[in-house]
Amino acid sequence: MLKFAVIGHPVAHSLSPAIHSANFRALGIDATYEAFDFAPEALSSGVARLVLEGYAGFNVTVPHKQAMINLVTLDESAARYLAVNTVKVGSGGMMRGYNTDVAGFLDDLEANGFDVRGKQVLVMGAGGAGSAVARGCLEAGALDVTIANRTPRDGMLPLGSDLCRKIAENVDLVVNATSVGLRPDDPSPIEAKFSAKQVVYDLAPVKWTTAIVKAARESGAKALTGHGMLVRQAARAFEIWTGKKADVAAMFEAVKEFEV
Ligand SMILES: NC(=O)c1ccc[n+]([C@@H]2O[C@H](COP(=O)([O-])OP(=O)(O)OC[C@H]3O[C@@H](n4cnc5c(N)ncnc54)[C@H](OP(=O)(O)O)[C@@H]3O)[C@@H](O)[C@H]2O)c1
Repeated sequence: MLKFAVIGHPVAHSLSPAIHSANFRALGIDATYEAFDFAPEALSSGVARLVLEGYAGFNVTVPHKQAMINLVTLDESAARYLAVNTVKVGSGGMMRGYNTDVAGFLDDLEANGFDVRGKQVLVMGAGGAGSAVARGCLEAGALDVTIANRTPRDGMLPLGSDLCRKIAENVDLVVNATSVGLRPDDPSPIEAKFSAKQVVYDLAPVKWTTAIVKAARESGAKALTGHGMLVRQAARAFEIWTGKKADVAAMFEAVKEFEV
């Protein structure tokens, strides 16, 4: 039996066990997928224990994606985005780290009929996810990417500024990569009037309709939620671990009740 896991802190809320378990069942693979809460100071000992106990791979979530860089050899994707969300344990306990988050995001845009090439993009939030997604959009051929952040640095736009709002109302794709929306009563990170020709992508994979998704839908824009990215990064992780194609439909079925 193969053993997989997700590690994070906290991690109890993670949808990854449900997503991966649904895929194993659909493909008839004898495997388990557990969630382990490792505090930052217990990260390296926790990871060593997973290797000793014979886990074939694991996912990494907040707050460990950057710290994992120092514990594994890096695939090109992890080196490029300076974050590890997938680890494959090879023979002799060798660990190789990958980043499937950005590819998962781009896969999901494509699956929803949005071709980022030549498009103008606003990414709100410049943490791990925002920086990686912004870079991913540029590498995938976006015409330009503006980054707005609550704490602007290195030429970023202030999130609450008039210019930011104007850009949000005019670009082809608006991405919310801030943590705003992770709580049910959070407001939208931006007060903007979207239009029907826009796509608004909220990375937060939550159980409620976030304020920005609601605003986008009310204005006729196409709204996408973080569940799509979550499923597609999981599919890529599974493919790295096993060399097999994931059953993406079964994975989506597992989060259907949360897709709002
Ligand atoms: N769907 C998926 O598969 C997936 C994958 C990865 C991440 N995500 C989601 O992406 C979001 C960001 O994750 P992350 O890992 O990048 O987190 P992070 O590194 O902690 O970054 C958080 C970002 O949110 C901003 N922020 C926090 N509180 C804010 C507030 N009250 N108002 C405005 N901005 C605020 C921060 O701005 P400052 O710099 O000013 O602090 C920073 O830009 C989360 O919702 C996470 O769940 C989804």
